[in-house]
Amino acid sequence: GQYTVSTRKNVRILLVGDAGVGKTSLILSLVSEEYPEEVPPRAEEITIPANVTPEQVPTSIVDFSSVEQTEETLGLEINKAHVVCIVYAVDDDDSLDRITSHWLPFIRSKCNASLEGDAETEPETEAAGERLRKPIVLVGNKVDLIDYSTMDSVLAIMEDFPEIESCVECSAKTLHNISEMFYYAQKAVLHPTSPLYMMEDQE
Ligand code: GTP
Ligand code: MG
Repeated sequence: GQYTVSTRKNVRILLVGDAGVGKTSLILSLVSEEYPEEVPPRAEEITIPANVTPEQVPTSIVDFSSVEQTEETLGLEINKAHVVCIVYAVDDDDSLDRITSHWLPFIRSKCNASLEGDAETEPETEAAGERLRKPIVLVGNKVDLIDYSTMDSVLAIMEDFPEIESCVECSAKTLHNISEMFYYAQKAVLHPTSPLYMMEDQE
């Protein structure tokens, strides 16, 4: 049709990623439009009113802290979120490796777990092989610290994980690409480019 109609009335964005990559700094930089030198372990949940978001939809932004929250809470937050931003630090290869070794499989496992309840009632249906996938945005923070790009590695990851909608390199410190990052997350929910349901055996 001529119009893309989204029925979603709000967007809930969750930030995850290894400790120290800058999740809390990114959220507080967006909100205050300046870089906070000191940040708490976890930012309070904030909701940005529709009229100041690019897609005109009220948008909640949720931080995660492994110090203040349990893995069980994280599982619940992943299921409540409409999109998950996996944050890494561009100057920290370990945080980039952990996207594929930990975060993407972990998020998939949490989404699968939430479907298993449904599968119990009709285990032999076609839907049993189908898995719900949460749209993901990969966020490389701290670009102010390096003079190269991590995009080659990130594009390789995106080939293996179709739920990744987009990727962005940014800096909470210089505010580079900060509003873009949250716009990409909104867009991943409101105008997803890949199907969010995929057959389990599809390669
Ligand atoms: P946890 O809450 O421990 O999971 O960490 P976090 O991901 O919330 O990271 P946080 O925002 O606490 O930032 C960690 C450190 O990185 C702090 O010292 C920040 O000042 C610093 N930092 C965050 N963003 C940037 C950035 O864009 N550039 C630079 N140079 N430093 C940053
Ligand atoms: Mg934090």
